[in-house]
Amino acid sequence: MKYRKRKYFLAGRINLIQRSKIRELFEKASKMKDVISLGIGEPDFETPTVIKEAAKRALDEGYTHYTPNAGIPEFREAIAEYYHESYSVNVDPSNIIVTAGAYEATYLAFQSLLEAGDDVIIPDPAFVCYVEDAKIAEAGILRIPLREENKFRIDPDELVEMITKRTRMLVMNYPNNPTGAILDKKSARAIGEIAEDYNIYILSDEPYEHFLYEGAKHYPMIKYAPDNTILANSFSKTFAMTGWRLGFTIAPVQVIRDMIKLHAYVIGNVTSFVQIAGITALRDKRSWEAVRKMRETYDERRRLVIKYLSKMPHITPFRPKGAFYIWVKIDPDLGMSSEDFAEWLLEAARVVVIPGTAFGKHGEGWVRISYATKKEQLTEALERMHAALSKI
Ligand SMILES: Cc1ncc(COP(=O)(O)O)c(C=O)c1O
Repeated sequence: MKYRKRKYFLAGRINLIQRSKIRELFEKASKMKDVISLGIGEPDFETPTVIKEAAKRALDEGYTHYTPNAGIPEFREAIAEYYHESYSVNVDPSNIIVTAGAYEATYLAFQSLLEAGDDVIIPDPAFVCYVEDAKIAEAGILRIPLREENKFRIDPDELVEMITKRTRMLVMNYPNNPTGAILDKKSARAIGEIAEDYNIYILSDEPYEHFLYEGAKHYPMIKYAPDNTILANSFSKTFAMTGWRLGFTIAPVQVIRDMIKLHAYVIGNVTSFVQIAGITALRDKRSWEAVRKMRETYDERRRLVIKYLSKMPHITPFRPKGAFYIWVKIDPDLGMSSEDFAEWLLEAARVVVIPGTAFGKHGEGWVRISYATKKEQLTEALERMHAALSKI
């Protein structure tokens, strides 16, 4: 069949979404030979066998039908149990909705809580989806800068300064993509108190909670502002399950009820046998053993990359304690913007890194490197980078 050439009338809303600026870089890279990408934000590991087996079994057992919109009750119980055991947080299954990854959780939060006339405070730099979600929700966007001198944490004083009557929500994401920064208990408490005092929501996106190093701990925001927090989490990174599309949200029951209304007509429910496999992921010791091994491997790579980067001229890495990214500062004397640098590195070393500006204007002067890449490839990429930078 051939489509006729005609003009398609599309909703203006769709034009609000900006396709990623780094697409051109990836397109260029895909046409070149022998390129190593350190741009990828997804685990290079396989999903643990015990989880795969559980999904296969669930299919054979007939989990091929619709499930309740909010998710299979036993799975929601397993999530509640997990928060109780890991963080001594008591949540009821009625506070939980199973979503198609953290992406859907975030989208639902923006759509159900914000409208024209409301403002949302989004960190800068930040993971790319929040700004686009805010635009579709017609919310006003304020960016709170994350600064190196503050270890890329949100400054509570600066946050208070930014809050107005229009402010409805603050977005948080720790461990952080793109900086690898982590949250500390003091900031978690302070930000939680601010949210309560000014009655604003916190959308806390926490998919990297298990990738913490150097003894760092995770502080889930539902512990610090339970009545105000919408927690988004995911199995994508924790269990290397990006393709499965499995995540969840925890929030006050009134919020969950509204989110379910939208979810029911978009997704209906998350794939039934995937949810059953999710129960195994949370309850079986073998899946946690696999997570422990992944964390150890990431940590080994993290130290390796920092060691290499620290010896290179013209760049300085921020020492991250979370996620699987390294945020690298470009020496201003080079006179290259983040995009110039990423393009130059692709040409000169055939290595892909993400320009910091993809995450906001405060990302200017930085690039993001992902170490969710096999050690041999990482080492090769770092050696190429070192050689290219030494020639400048
Ligand atoms: C901070 C952050 N939030 C959300 C997502 C989306 O993940 P999911 O696969 O759970 O939808 C990602 C993926 O890279 C991420 O880095």
